[in-house]
Amino acid sequence: MNEPIGIFDSGIGGLTVFREMRRQLPGEDLIYLGDTARVPYGTKSAETVTRYSQQNVRFLLQQGVKLVVVACNTASAFALEKLQKEFSIPIIGVIHAGVKRVLQASATQRIGIIGTEGTIRSESYTQEILRQAPSAQVFSQACPLFVPLVEEGWQDTAVAQATAETYLAPLRGKIDTLILGCTHYPLLKKVIGQVLGPEVQLIDSAEETAKEVKGLVIPSQKTTSAADRFFVSDSTERFMKVAKVFLKDFGQAEKVEL
Ligand code: DGL
Repeated sequence: MNEPIGIFDSGIGGLTVFREMRRQLPGEDLIYLGDTARVPYGTKSAETVTRYSQQNVRFLLQQGVKLVVVACNTASAFALEKLQKEFSIPIIGVIHAGVKRVLQASATQRIGIIGTEGTIRSESYTQEILRQAPSAQVFSQACPLFVPLVEEGWQDTAVAQATAETYLAPLRGKIDTLILGCTHYPLLKKVIGQVLGPEVQLIDSAEETAKEVKGLVIPSQKTTSAADRFFVSDSTERFMKVAKVFLKDFGQAEKVEL
């Protein structure tokens, strides 16, 4: 029960999930793994993303984690079921939580989803929505340029605005809720909100995922304050620089071989 909780992502974006976990689970030690040497996952095949995800879980298991959160939407879309079958500890993805949240929020059940090419191609969100609400209407759109925009720190620029207008035009007037189905997109909330207007509610699955984890773990009984560790598979420099876009307080990261 005092073991840490593991979180992995293809890179930096999963820090949006980490941030929410830290807020909702203040007594738990958290270990974050960003596979920065192999990011992005969003353009890769299901087979490759699954293999990388298996290696990430194995690394976290070596650190003695009691539960793993797959913070990456693409990895959740392609690999979650396989990971849950292969490993004996609980493994949680972000898609189930995001869908639960969107169905609570949507009055018309006309739901939009944006994500990486891989997440949209997998249709995992659409299938999960239709499983939970068979009469819902789903409109999806891949937005591959959003990830590099955020990593460049350009989320509040005219370029982000123009990109969002182009990607989101087909969804305008069709939906009342939009799932931000990628780790980076919560940082584009302002621009996306401006393009779609106040009538569309934006759903970020991080909060609901952390809530799901809270319901699952036996809380740590440690009396010392919680510790965080950050691991990356490429050099720590870029991670440390870009991580500041996601997290204000940030410790040291360690480079590891996966
Ligand atoms: N973490 C990925 C996701 O949420 C975005 C970045 C990538 O393509 O690897 O889908």
